[in-house]
Amino acid sequence: MKILIVGSGGREHAIAQALAKSPKAEKLYCAPGNAGIGQIAECVPIGAMEFDKLAAFAKEQAIDLTVVGMDDPLVGGIVDVFEKEGLRVFGPRKNAAILEGSKAFSKDLMKKYGIPTAAYETFDDPEKALAYLANAKMPVVLKADGLALGKGVLICNTLDEAKAGVKEIMQDKKFGSAGDHMVIEEFMTGREVSVLSFTDGKTIKIMSSAQDHKRAMDGDKGLNTGGMGTFSPSPFYTEEIDRVCKEKIYQATVDAMAAEGRPFSGVIFFGLMLTEDGPKVLEYNARFGDPEAQVVLPRMKNDLVDVMEACIDGTLDQITLDFADNAAVCVVLASEGYPVSYEKGFVINGLSKFDTEDGYFCFHAGTKKNDAGEFVTNGGRVLGVTAVGETLKKARENAYKATEWVDFQGKYMRHDIGKAIEEA
Ligand code: AMP
Ligand code: GLY
Repeated sequence: MKILIVGSGGREHAIAQALAKSPKAEKLYCAPGNAGIGQIAECVPIGAMEFDKLAAFAKEQAIDLTVVGMDDPLVGGIVDVFEKEGLRVFGPRKNAAILEGSKAFSKDLMKKYGIPTAAYETFDDPEKALAYLANAKMPVVLKADGLALGKGVLICNTLDEAKAGVKEIMQDKKFGSAGDHMVIEEFMTGREVSVLSFTDGKTIKIMSSAQDHKRAMDGDKGLNTGGMGTFSPSPFYTEEIDRVCKEKIYQATVDAMAAEGRPFSGVIFFGLMLTEDGPKVLEYNARFGDPEAQVVLPRMKNDLVDVMEACIDGTLDQITLDFADNAAVCVVLASEGYPVSYEKGFVINGLSKFDTEDGYFCFHAGTKKNDAGEFVTNGGRVLGVTAVGETLKKARENAYKATEWVDFQGKYMRHDIGKAIEEA
């Protein structure tokens, strides 16, 4: 099979690597890809939002399967464009990707179908939002409705902060048109867990759990980022929690989408908060997490091509997902100054060590090759250094050891990825 992956981050590198292991995969392409993905796939210089060009490329090359890694093209309807051209594609259609694309939609869906989530109200008028806040309990959470690179969420401790937040989102349009509508939500406390799943629109199969570290600095300080590191499985995601989620959240979400005439085929990412009142949905995403994919996929024993094809064909009930009885930790190496401002173009040394060590992976996010053919930094998150181990503790030790193999000017990382497991 010829397979095309759409995207350019560490997640797409992890997807490409999992697909490359399949005996069915003869040739991989990635659009637009990055320098690391270029080692296992042919990178094609077409942007992820150039749907017509991508579909034309897929037709020309007789691509058998396209896998969309990123949220923007999914929410924008890439799957519908490919399907219209008779191309096989893994991911939800536009009318289902709205599960991620609109927080107001997903909150209303959860309310309608009794899926546990934080109490909320939606607003399209800033005056009404301000009037509501006057009597709201603090802290409160403000969410711009649309996609905002994971940054359209403000946690406000005081009424003044909340008022300023409404102005930022709805009036100053800091997150663009994502701020035309806004959700105001009850603040929840507890541990966060990411659970990824495959679904064909009827059946849902859960992958091993993971936990992200979204803040830039140790101790969960600093600004929110795209994710500074992950571990899998989460020791806080117990069998009892899994049972409750299976009863109240996972199948209920798939059935709700089907009942709404929006059958969801692809990956649903459940962002869960484990509260005192039980697990609740923080958010849905319509794709693998980044950097969750980097710790979940290396532990998956199934042939990813088979699982994806079963999602497309509606035969997921015949698949049993199987994960190695081990753990994985991913530490993101970022550029100093991320997520605010940083320099690019620094030479990265030491990457070849990963080619010779089993159980260690270096997933590229922001990298490219310079004219001399050297790997150089090309983004805020540069690499996702990942290691497996028999236990989380061992995986954590291995991952941090491997962060020392690579070097580039301005290399920045958190030192406490997976530290929480010590409390478990
Ligand atoms: P989201 O993009 O909706 O997942 O929000 C980003 C982050 O904001 C989440 O990972 C949580 O850490 C935090 N967050 C979102 N909603 C809430 C909430 N209702 N209560 C507490 N924290 C929240
Ligand atoms: N790691 C969080 C996300 O992919 O949205």
